[in-house]
Amino acid sequence: MATNTHHHTLLSALHCFERRRLLLLLLGLVCLCNVVGGSNSTWSRPGGCIDSEREALLQFKRGLPHDPANRLSSWTADGSDCCGWNGVSCDSMSGHVVKLDLKSPGSERFLNASRMQSYSRSLGGVIGPSLLGLKYLAYLDLSYNDFKKKPIPEFLGSLSNLEYLYLSGANLQGRIPHHLGNLSRLQTLDLSNNGFWGLSMGGDVKWMSQLSSLQHLNLYQVDISSDHGSSGKLLVALNMLPSLSWVNLGSCGLKSIPSFPHVNLTSLSFLDLSENDIQSPFVEWLTNITSLEHLDLSWNNFEGGVPSVIWSMSSLTELIISGNERLDGKLPRNQSSLCKLQRLEMRWVNISGDVNELEGSFSGCIRNSLQSLDLRSTRLTGSFPSWLVEMKRLKYLSLPSNSLQGPIPTSLGGLSSLEELDLSENNLNGSIPHSLGGLSRLTSLDLRSNHLQGAIPESLGNLSSLEELFLDHNNLSGPISAEILSSLSSLQLLDLSDNRLEGMVSAAHLSNFRSLRMLSMANNPIIFNISTDWVPPFRLAVVDLSLCKVGPLFPTWLRLQQNVDTFNLSNSGISDAIPDSYWSSTSSINILDLSNNQITGRLLDSLKHIVIRNLDIHSNRLEGEWPHQLPSTELSILDMSSNSFTGAIPKDVGEAMPSLQMLVVSNNKLNGSIPRSLCQLMLLLYLDLSRNNFSGNIPDCWKPSPYTVGLVVLHLSHNSLVGVIPNSLGYHSKALPPPGAVEALNTLLILQVELCLHLPPKQFGPESCWLSS
Ligand SMILES: *[C@@H]1O[C@H](CO)[C@@H](O)[C@H](O)[C@H]1NC(C)=O
Ligand SMILES: *[C@@H]1O[C@H](CO)[C@@H](O)[C@H](O)[C@H]1NC(C)=O
Ligand SMILES: *[C@@H]1O[C@H](CO)[C@@H](O)[C@H](O)[C@H]1NC(C)=O
Ligand SMILES: *[C@@H]1O[C@H](CO)[C@@H](O)[C@H](O)[C@H]1NC(C)=O
Ligand SMILES: *[C@@H]1O[C@H](CO)[C@@H](O)[C@H](O)[C@H]1NC(C)=O
Ligand SMILES: *[C@@H]1O[C@H](CO)[C@@H](O)[C@H](O)[C@H]1NC(C)=O
Ligand SMILES: *[C@@H]1O[C@H](CO)[C@@H](O)[C@H](O)[C@H]1NC(C)=O
Ligand SMILES: *[C@@H]1O[C@H](CO)[C@@H](O)[C@H](O)[C@H]1NC(C)=O
Ligand SMILES: *[C@@H]1O[C@H](CO)[C@@H](O)[C@H](O)[C@H]1NC(C)=O
Ligand SMILES: *[C@@H]1O[C@H](CO)[C@@H](O)[C@H](O)[C@H]1NC(C)=O
Ligand SMILES: *[C@@H]1O[C@H](CO)[C@@H](O)[C@H](O)[C@H]1NC(C)=O
Ligand SMILES: *[C@@H]1O[C@H](CO)[C@@H](O)[C@H](O)[C@H]1NC(C)=O
Repeated sequence: MATNTHHHTLLSALHCFERRRLLLLLLGLVCLCNVVGGSNSTWSRPGGCIDSEREALLQFKRGLPHDPANRLSSWTADGSDCCGWNGVSCDSMSGHVVKLDLKSPGSERFLNASRMQSYSRSLGGVIGPSLLGLKYLAYLDLSYNDFKKKPIPEFLGSLSNLEYLYLSGANLQGRIPHHLGNLSRLQTLDLSNNGFWGLSMGGDVKWMSQLSSLQHLNLYQVDISSDHGSSGKLLVALNMLPSLSWVNLGSCGLKSIPSFPHVNLTSLSFLDLSENDIQSPFVEWLTNITSLEHLDLSWNNFEGGVPSVIWSMSSLTELIISGNERLDGKLPRNQSSLCKLQRLEMRWVNISGDVNELEGSFSGCIRNSLQSLDLRSTRLTGSFPSWLVEMKRLKYLSLPSNSLQGPIPTSLGGLSSLEELDLSENNLNGSIPHSLGGLSRLTSLDLRSNHLQGAIPESLGNLSSLEELFLDHNNLSGPISAEILSSLSSLQLLDLSDNRLEGMVSAAHLSNFRSLRMLSMANNPIIFNISTDWVPPFRLAVVDLSLCKVGPLFPTWLRLQQNVDTFNLSNSGISDAIPDSYWSSTSSINILDLSNNQITGRLLDSLKHIVIRNLDIHSNRLEGEWPHQLPSTELSILDMSSNSFTGAIPKDVGEAMPSLQMLVVSNNKLNGSIPRSLCQLMLLLYLDLSRNNFSGNIPDCWKPSPYTVGLVVLHLSHNSLVGVIPNSLGYHSKALPPPGAVEALNTLLILQVELCLHLPPKQFGPESCWLSS
């Protein structure tokens, strides 16, 4: 189960990443188109650039003192031709500066929080008014630089020749100045990605309707909701702009969509209203826009039904209405005239009913146009539909998390364009058809969590482009074939766990996996016979070979990446010590589970330098003292029970591991007192110190936690504790104890103690309960 959750997380991260990349690509294409036709930046007029403009640029540079990559190093005061400076372009006839492109390279910054911090090529400072010296400026791109949460300067509205203004991801904040409404030549305005609602539109949106040349508008993550009703007002203003062709109002806090007497948007081809909270019925007037190609209404709260007119929007190429859970997804049952539709995405829309009854909806010309169909979690039932197998252009088919039953039809192998196939989390049974081996373009095959049985067909070895293969949580049997695995040389993610696969896995099975990042074969009666010094061609981020036979020697051949998500060798028959050097190239591990083996040695000492979130090493033969700097601040679960650890818990455990939620050290040889700093663990829910040799009092310093319910389970029995049950534990008594979960403080007093713990805090005094040892 846990494995499953992990690659789920990994997968959804990847999918999210893909979506963003697509958006970026679209943005990129638009930018490219706009740049074509600009002047040649290296051209220089005989006399060089115009002095006053050179001066203006130098002044502008002074406002940008942060330039770690020296991107403005060519901007010098030595009289050089400013038309040749990095990012500057001049008009070839007049010599005036017409274009300033200082977009920071690496604009994917916002995709990736960790990269954001280390990002080092952006300029930092202010957008200075010296720009006004560039009277002929038509193109200004300052995207992905860092303007320190300052507002967009009002004077930009005076750059009256401006046609393109890009201020995406520039760390700008505050109300967008209505002075921008003076830019009557503006064709492109991109204010997206300045943090979630970092920029806001404010109540007065009329100025937008003055941008009479505007074609391309990106307000992704701009707050247009702040004043009541203004979100609708913006759409009314935009409806005055017949030139608009591309509009992104994603994540803008739109609450409602007004109805118009007349739709003016006759050029609109791209409209993204996703990730808002629109609660109106489906917007019928949108279907009047006969130029619309890309329509994204996903992640809103539309109610009622999908209007059947949408099935006649013959200009649409992409229709995305995922994540509208209140939308009745009943599709129009007659033939569609969506003859250009390539992509239909309806995840988490309640379609419900037998998928075979959608045949009418997917008949007609859509059959020859559709390339991508996503019906994840749409409550579909019935057997695998035959109409689907008629959609010969499909590259991407996603039907997971429905209730499809019966076998996967052999005819599915005829969808020879398929690149990604996801039928996971259904009730499909029978065996995996041989014919799937004919899907030679497949890069991802996900049949996880069905009831498939029989052997993995040899023909899957034909899928040489496959990067992801998920067959876990089925009832597959038979030996794991080296022929199949060694043919899948592009594989990055492989999950065969929770089946009944058997036999031996040798180096021959794995030796062609050059790009493998995830290897999961957990819970199969598989035996690994691989020499510990074999050097595989891959490095792994996810390993789960739990409940397989991997030992008795520790599999040092399993090479890890620097950052590891999951490493689970629980119950895998290892009775060996792990060499200290094994961990030397790893800096962080999300989950490390080596429990239920016979591992020996002083493992905790080797793990000191690794940041670990969840460490489970219970039921081994580990020894040594609790090292002073255990990889600490991130650790949230630590189970080291049933080993032979000795010594005391460090006094500063509470400061060193502030994220601890679960600490289990029972059944060791630990001694000393219970550190008072445990009381500082505001997230601690589960504490088990039982079956050791702890002595002294239970500290009286427990505090109610502002973040959690507080301690839920406390095991202290079988120690040498003395004294009273402290008053302060009463804070936690509301949560204590789930029946049977607590052995309480001492087996001798179990009843009495449980009674104590159930007392409301006020009556809970030191007299009511005594410990005896
Ligand atoms: C490791 O695998 C075992 C057996 O498959 C499983 O029970 C356990 O939850 C896994 N550990 C973690 C931390 O997910
Ligand atoms: C731009 O200038 C460079 C070098 O001066 C030249 O090689 C190139 O052909 C020019 N490009 C255009 C589009 O004029
Ligand atoms: C984020 O950036 C880091 C560092 O460059 C990289 O290792 C990681 O793979 C990136 N994550 C994503 C989802 O792109
Ligand atoms: C620009 O617009 C603002 C109001 O939106 C106005 O006050 C100002 O005078 C205008 N400036 C120019 C130069 O037109
Ligand atoms: C349509 O656009 C024209 C020109 O911008 C404008 O005059 C008219 O008021 C607009 N109609 C609506 C309903 O907004
Ligand atoms: C949409 O089109 C229909 C028929 O062409 C027309 O009657 C209706 O007024 C239009 N609605 C809007 C809001 O433009
Ligand atoms: C679907 O059928 C309904 C009534 O049967 C009709 O009004 C509508 O125009 C049809 N739609 C298409 C796209 O053919
Ligand atoms: C989904 O739709 C079906 C049929 O229209 C309905 O019975 C069911 O209640 C809906 N489920 C949800 C969660 O809306
Ligand atoms: C598959 O499931 C159906 C019912 O959903 C059942 O009738 C059929 O016998 C099953 N087939 C196999 C091979 O288990
Ligand atoms: C798989 O490839 C083999 C040859 O390697 C070929 O004989 C077989 O027909 C192919 N299977 C499918 C289903 O395409
Ligand atoms: C798995 O398949 C076998 C037959 O190969 C069958 O006897 C068994 O009941 C199946 N188990 C499950 C959980 O479906
Ligand atoms: C394991 O592999 C070695 C050689 O790679 C072989 O000699 C040995 O017989 C294998 N062990 C088993 C149990 O098959």
